[in-house]
Amino acid sequence: MDGALLVLLLCMILGKGTKAVETGAGGSDIQRGEKLVALTFDDGPHPGTTTRLLEGLKERGVHATFFLIGKNIEGNEEIVKQISEDGHLIGCHTYNHVDLTGMSLEQAKRELEQTNEKIFQVTGKVVEYVRPPFGKWNEKIEETMEITPVLWTVDPRDWEDKDSGLVERRILKDAENGDIILLHDIYDSSVEAALGVVDDLLAEGYEFVTIDELIEE
Ligand code: NI
Repeated sequence: MDGALLVLLLCMILGKGTKAVETGAGGSDIQRGEKLVALTFDDGPHPGTTTRLLEGLKERGVHATFFLIGKNIEGNEEIVKQISEDGHLIGCHTYNHVDLTGMSLEQAKRELEQTNEKIFQVTGKVVEYVRPPFGKWNEKIEETMEITPVLWTVDPRDWEDKDSGLVERRILKDAENGDIILLHDIYDSSVEAALGVVDDLLAEGYEFVTIDELIEE
């Protein structure tokens, strides 16, 4: 586990207020004065909502990170291809949206490998990042697999309140340089909130980056 990741995990344990990439711990490549944020979308791909999101991001010239559920890729390969071709980063969110700590190491690895294989078949790209469902990560996986877990620093609970205005306000209230924003591209309200956040933060001088650009390996 590298320094930036450790800080990120600590950030999750300690709660808000500790910014993963502002600590100056040496694990970050963020320059002073920069205003960088990463939008991340879990649980897709989803026909309709993911497609609308991709159109909105393209119009705004913004890149994001998509953590895909393996079983949702079936039948939605064209969407996955589009995500990749548009320049977004694709990560893994397990095949069946499972708690990786609630199963054997072998099962957990299979959840990741099956998903990564599917993503590779469609995009030709090797998956390097995983967002563990429920934020539950089994560190033993890292001992045998080249994959980096990515949690988040801003959670507007978009799955709970499907109100785009409310979700957008929650994000804007918390967003700071270095933040990783958690959203789900399976709800219309989340897509609308995300595009609103992009417009607002671009106007404030923020730049949107993908996870690999935010976290130094
Ligand atoms: Ni999820």
